[in-house]
Amino acid sequence: MRIKHFLLAALVLTGLTASAQAPQRLTVQVNKPGAMISPHMWGVFFEDINFAADGGLYAELVKNRSFEFNDPMMGWNEVKKDSGKGRILMVNRGKENENNPRYARITVDAAMGAYGLSNEGFRGIGIEKGKAYNFSMWANAPQGKSLKARILLLDENGQQIGAASLNGFGDGWRQYKVSLTATATAAKARLQILFSGQGAIDADMISLFPAATWKQRPNGLRADLVQMLADLKPGFVRFPGGCIVEGRDLANRYQWKKTVGKPEERKLIINRWNTEFSHRSAPDYFQSFGLGFFEYFQLAEDLGAAPLPILNCGMACQFNTREVAAMNELDPYLQDAVDLIAFANGDTTTQWGALRAAMGHPAPFNLTMIGIGNEQWDEQYIERYRVFEATLKAKHPEIKLVSSAGPFSKGPMFDYLWKELKASQADFIDEHYYMPPEWFLANASRYDHYDRSQGPKIFAGEYAAHTKEAKEAESRNTWGSALAEAAFMTGLERNADIVRMASYAPLFAHVEAWQWRPDLIWFDNLRTVGTPNYYVQQLFSANRGTQVVPVLRNGEVLAGKDSLYASAVIDAPSRKLLLKIVNASSAPVQLELQLEGAAAKGAAVQQILSAPHPGDFNTLGSPNKVVPTEKQLSATGKQLRITAAPASLNVVAVPYR
Ligand code: AHR
Repeated sequence: MRIKHFLLAALVLTGLTASAQAPQRLTVQVNKPGAMISPHMWGVFFEDINFAADGGLYAELVKNRSFEFNDPMMGWNEVKKDSGKGRILMVNRGKENENNPRYARITVDAAMGAYGLSNEGFRGIGIEKGKAYNFSMWANAPQGKSLKARILLLDENGQQIGAASLNGFGDGWRQYKVSLTATATAAKARLQILFSGQGAIDADMISLFPAATWKQRPNGLRADLVQMLADLKPGFVRFPGGCIVEGRDLANRYQWKKTVGKPEERKLIINRWNTEFSHRSAPDYFQSFGLGFFEYFQLAEDLGAAPLPILNCGMACQFNTREVAAMNELDPYLQDAVDLIAFANGDTTTQWGALRAAMGHPAPFNLTMIGIGNEQWDEQYIERYRVFEATLKAKHPEIKLVSSAGPFSKGPMFDYLWKELKASQADFIDEHYYMPPEWFLANASRYDHYDRSQGPKIFAGEYAAHTKEAKEAESRNTWGSALAEAAFMTGLERNADIVRMASYAPLFAHVEAWQWRPDLIWFDNLRTVGTPNYYVQQLFSANRGTQVVPVLRNGEVLAGKDSLYASAVIDAPSRKLLLKIVNASSAPVQLELQLEGAAAKGAAVQQILSAPHPGDFNTLGSPNKVVPTEKQLSATGKQLRITAAPASLNVVAVPYR
């Protein structure tokens, strides 16, 4: 999170020299398989930024469902219909229910008309014709047993597009449920709850979910957004961030224990991105934690990905308050880490394993790694990291630890952390680079010369090529930025012996509610779009392979000379060579691939991602401007010819014998 991020220049592909003339020969040494590619190599970084969780992946459609935002009526409006009259009071029962203190007391005064409230959703409510929506509400109505409720969905023009009724309210808190089917589609619908009759009703946790959540789960996730993740075939899911782990101060940090158990008992807090950027402030951005640690583990499992939780290590965001827990008060933080391992992996007879089972998952989640702190730096980090390391390595040697290299790609802070962590038992060091596209192009060989004798492996945990343009939300996700990332990723793949994991960041952004861009996937209330950067990630991830093989031109790796970049892997089980070639020049390049130690067998496939202009990008309205295309290549013997189009990423899959 640095001002610098917002001052970066756009990529212009100029003065590039590769020619379309004689084919250049690339030798692919299929007979020299090297490092094993980690099954976790290409993963996703999830953070609740840009309305990625509430208003995004978490499918709840009601904003401020439990009236716990700072302004309890935020998102809600009073509604009087046909001379209906009444009052709404916000009652606080903090002593009785510390986690969910407020509820609405709705008193209906007039015998005629109807009275109640409406919810605006997260920048509106996305409703689709013919789909079912599950409404629920906790209510207590000792003085409102005869009240009748109408639950209505209204489109942008106030037209009814869904309706259901609830009655039979009674004494004592109880959850009331009803399902509605939408008669029309609306991207910005509203929900109304209108009471007729006379009396008072207490209402809380007023909720609306699509029935078709991912795997139809109650309290579930938006299916189209999860599908976008599934299509990436991620090797790991890092959660819950990012700076959100740290909080602006320690009170605002992410505490996983407060995100598990019954949704109505999870204590809401302000989202740190609510106020982070004044030009993109989001006063209605809170964390309901309806999407909590159980759901994150379940998501990772659904995606066939390894879970990678990042925990607070007693440090709030160093860009903000710089608050740290005193060294003699680190125990609760450490205990959270120990208990998380029990929650994920522990026997169901243990306290935390039992909670996991009670939430519906008796089997372990197979947690194998944990991040200690997010983007931390300096001595205060190392001091605290060592406390975690000592305890966790002793108690749980099976769990790998991810540690921080700070927010910058190099410099004294970075060097200091590497020196200390090398001397330590760190398993992975989390390097971050939010840099201009030019940096990614120039740094494709970053890891070619990294010291292999250093203990820790690399987790390229947050990266994205940042350009400055322009107006539309999605417009910083240019083809030029994606191409630069692809070039850089060939360097990650080539160095898979030390680079074991990598993830673009951030993952999701709502087009009307973002704080940070570029992002991998954009969405609104009904639609989603993959950016060019998304397709780059997908092409690498879907073609991960099992072992690196050398690809050379004149005996040298291709890491930017003549604007060409390449890496190659084999997928041993399917006996396929998977070659990635980036041509970052403005001219086509003819390539002759010479296979060593193998011969092509059957049809090869070339997947191509390209666009005419570096500034091209996909939008929700025009999602297919930059998407992969495919062509068959005839391949027999040891030679194969391909053309790498100007400014293109090419993934060539060659079955071999
Ligand atoms: O990805 C956005 C932010 O960038 C993350 O929260 C933080 O780790 C980094 O500064």
